Amino acid sequence: MFLRDAWYAISWDHEIKHAPFGRTVCGEPIVLYRRTNGALSAFEDCCPHRLLPLSKGYLKGDHLVCKYHGLEFDECGQCVWMPGQQGIHKEAKMRIYPVAERHRFVWVWIGDPALADEKKIPDLRWCSDPKWIFEGSTYHVKCNYQLLVDNLMDLSHETYVHPSSIGQHEIVEAPIKVESDDASVTVTRWMYNIDPPPFWAANLKSQEKCDRWQICQFSLPANVMIDVGVALAGTGASQGDRSRGVTGIVVNLMTPETETSTWYHWGMARDFQTGDRGLTMRIRDGQAAVFTEDLEILNSQQENILRRTDRDLLNLKIDAGGVNARRIIEHELSRQR
Ligand code: FES
Ligand SMILES: [Fe+2]
Repeated sequence: MFLRDAWYAISWDHEIKHAPFGRTVCGEPIVLYRRTNGALSAFEDCCPHRLLPLSKGYLKGDHLVCKYHGLEFDECGQCVWMPGQQGIHKEAKMRIYPVAERHRFVWVWIGDPALADEKKIPDLRWCSDPKWIFEGSTYHVKCNYQLLVDNLMDLSHETYVHPSSIGQHEIVEAPIKVESDDASVTVTRWMYNIDPPPFWAANLKSQEKCDRWQICQFSLPANVMIDVGVALAGTGASQGDRSRGVTGIVVNLMTPETETSTWYHWGMARDFQTGDRGLTMRIRDGQAAVFTEDLEILNSQQENILRRTDRDLLNLKIDAGGVNARRIIEHELSRQR
């Protein structure tokens, strides 16, 4: 069900402090913490004694102590103290997970640790490049991660789900171009000479006609980067000149928790007015409100999918991006099995 040999964003980097943090990824409960030197440790979140989650415990220096009977583990997951015992049971060692920090996120590798090459961490350069500014948050969504991929690879839903912010009828009318290879899918939509919707009019600081683009790119295991923006109409944005426009990269990292729940890390990086902290917060809050509208749809959709096992999903032309992403995931799943 899950692609295991992959890096998943488990949290934002600032969320991991000198304290146990528990989160389930691909059905595996994981506890992680930041050591006193700033490095990270990540283990299975389960005490080998009576199986209490170790995320309920506490740190003693760089050692993790179980809250129930005090078993103590070093930063490599090895038990170094047991109550009422002379020695240490050798099997009292926890599975450790490869973990890395990059582009403002903490990444864990769920599968074979020997394959955990940090070069395979997704390239999210906009999130860490000082020429850009990036902010966002995390939502817990009660749906399978592939429903989120479908949602993000087909932005025609903006017209109906987000009519007051980024939705407009031209999105449904504009044709899409879908390109795909073995590892990625790109869905491109250009809308020419249209009125900017409220969010973009405010950022462009203009109500004049604009050219608007949405370029959604899926990559494994379940990441969708969306290059979005508007430029004054006819100023050459579609030919590559965005000097009269504003660009954002909507970052979406879907980390499966279970088959029917997902940690959805989202945010937007932008290359305009990067020093305006107030704008950064307003965009983040606006995005939070927009994605809340998606949550309601996705939660209800998943409930119905579970209820209506007699029905299959119907694929329309607008679903080409999501369908291709599902094909790539399925192919990679069979390769990893
Ligand atoms: S359950 Fe952890 S020490 Fe007993
Ligand atoms: Fe949406």
